[in-house]
Amino acid sequence: MTLPAASRFQFAPALDICRVLNGMWQVSGAHGAIDPEHAIAAMFAYHDAGFTSWDLADHYGPAEDLIGQFRRRFAEQRGAERLGEIQAFTKWVPHPGAMSRQNVEQAIAVSSRRMGVERLDLLQFHWWDYRDRRYLDALTHLADLRQEGKIRHLALTNFDTERLGIIVDAGIRVVSNQVQYSLVDRRPEVKMAAFCQQHGITLLTYGTLLGGLLSEKYLGRPEPGRGELTTASLQKYKNMIDAWGGWALFQELLAVLKPIADKHGVSIATIGARYVLDRPAVAGVIIGARLGIAEHIADNARVFDVTLDADDVAAIEPVLAKSRDLLRLIGDCGDEYR
Ligand SMILES: NC(=O)c1ccc[n+]([C@@H]2O[C@H](COP(=O)([O-])OP(=O)(O)OC[C@H]3O[C@@H](n4cnc5c(N)ncnc54)[C@H](OP(=O)(O)O)[C@@H]3O)[C@@H](O)[C@H]2O)c1
Repeated sequence: MTLPAASRFQFAPALDICRVLNGMWQVSGAHGAIDPEHAIAAMFAYHDAGFTSWDLADHYGPAEDLIGQFRRRFAEQRGAERLGEIQAFTKWVPHPGAMSRQNVEQAIAVSSRRMGVERLDLLQFHWWDYRDRRYLDALTHLADLRQEGKIRHLALTNFDTERLGIIVDAGIRVVSNQVQYSLVDRRPEVKMAAFCQQHGITLLTYGTLLGGLLSEKYLGRPEPGRGELTTASLQKYKNMIDAWGGWALFQELLAVLKPIADKHGVSIATIGARYVLDRPAVAGVIIGARLGIAEHIADNARVFDVTLDADDVAAIEPVLAKSRDLLRLIGDCGDEYR
């Protein structure tokens, strides 16, 4: 299987990505035990299918080490000159505290060492508390490290539109912001997407498949109890569905998506991913991969075959219109973490 040219996106100069990125929170341990050998074999399968881009973080258990092992194995088997085929986007999620040059540099060095890279492709920065404006210190040091060649591109995760504006006004160039974005959580389209478009920033999205809840598996199913939600991801997005409108409304959404999926000969998950990929400012959708446990490679490849038409979007809209306003309820992008 090879993905079509439309699967690629020029994310930054000399850096193109697969528009469906493989999410590695699922190897953290909170989604089932991961066997490293099986995981590496699965990484080759994703890569060979065309899913060459990875999203990870310093705190996703062994994720950075798995990238390091995958890259080493890849170089041995296929040659180091081909390592550029892999894009690995990590995050730095520091504990609150002083953001000295030394602290920042050390964090970047640890991630680079674990991932086996001279230079990080992309560093996505997260910050817990906006009352502490030292996020600007951290970003200034990160921009210096980019200048010095330790990071290719600087990015954010879970920043709201107001702080993104402050960062842009401070003259700090970022290429993307990673935010939750799905048929259920459409907060990014209220303010964030337009701001990003004005400033040449793109969005990478997570939670797009609601941890797997957005699928045939849950269509017509009674509301799952907490004990049935066996991954951290399922628990997280079940809470989001509860805030959005509850299980009955979610069933209405799945029921509306099913005939659209059937019409296109794809799955509900594929329709959900395609919907978000088509939204303004979205560069890519991150889909979590429980490496070596479960895989949806062939199904997720179909995202690039589908074109949603006006009738599809018109059929979905009335269900979405019944939902609560998550921006009012939770706040702008990332506010659920604060
Ligand atoms: N920046 C942040 O704060 C943040 C937060 C959360 C996540 N993320 C990133 O986003 C990634 C995505 O994770 P997520 O938690 O948001 O989960 P998600 O992508 O919404 O859901 C992933 C789950 O969906 C299921 N799935 C995948 N493809 C499917 C298909 N075609 N049909 C049916 N089910 C399918 C799989 O479940 P099974 O494995 O059970 O089959 C998979 O584990 C993470 O790995 C991480 O990289 C970032």
